[in-house]
Amino acid sequence: MSMSPSAAMLLGVNVDHVATLRQARGTSYPDPCQAALMAEQAGADSITVHLREDRRHIQDADLEILQAQLKTHMNLELAVSEEIIAIACRIHPSDCCLVPERRAELTTEGGLDVITHFDAVAAACRRFAGEGIRAGLFIDPDLRQIEAAASSGAPVVELHTGVYSGLPEGAQREKELRRLREAARAAISAGLEVHAGHGLNYHNVGPVAAIPEITELNIGHAIVAEALYSGMPAAVAEMKRLIGLARKP
Ligand code: PXP
Repeated sequence: MSMSPSAAMLLGVNVDHVATLRQARGTSYPDPCQAALMAEQAGADSITVHLREDRRHIQDADLEILQAQLKTHMNLELAVSEEIIAIACRIHPSDCCLVPERRAELTTEGGLDVITHFDAVAAACRRFAGEGIRAGLFIDPDLRQIEAAASSGAPVVELHTGVYSGLPEGAQREKELRRLREAARAAISAGLEVHAGHGLNYHNVGPVAAIPEITELNIGHAIVAEALYSGMPAAVAEMKRLIGLARKP
């Protein structure tokens, strides 16, 4: 199938790391839900959150609030875990994306191995389908994983762009980009919708965004980091204003 690069590309904004900052202090701020609503106002097409088994950033209560308040829709990332799948079915986001999870990792490292965990993944996909939740599988750009994903009954794959994102511009990155392009084409041929994400930032997003078969990018860390810079002048000015007011005779 040939696709035009001008076809719409949706942006899912991942607000996990707003919650990381909150959890670092155990405060009620910054609030990932408030950040999500601001992201929506700025044009985000969906909001992505990962409820990790160790609850290191997003908490169960965040999901309830997001599901009640989002104007777009929630893409909930989760491990193939009975506990978290049950929570997902209760919260009922429009989309759930199955990801691998290891407690010691800094972030999601490597895609889900759909071949090794085929039965559990297929069962989760059937359960989500029964609930009317669209299931996605976060996989490496690997043709065998795409085949397994298509057989599992998931309608969506999210291609892991972490390897691409970790490489400097050059031959190796071009090779990884070719792998992403081939995987995207193979996924479309297998009848899957193709998303991508992980490690994308303001410097490396262009070549991935240009892959016509990909229709959604999920980006978190870089956007949250950039928001710190762009929000810093107003944040400092407001604190100076309040301090100045307190010192007025
Ligand atoms: N997609 C998936 C499946 C992820 O697990 C993550 C990280 O939580 C992202 C996208 C976003 O990655 P990043 O925060 O590096 O933009």
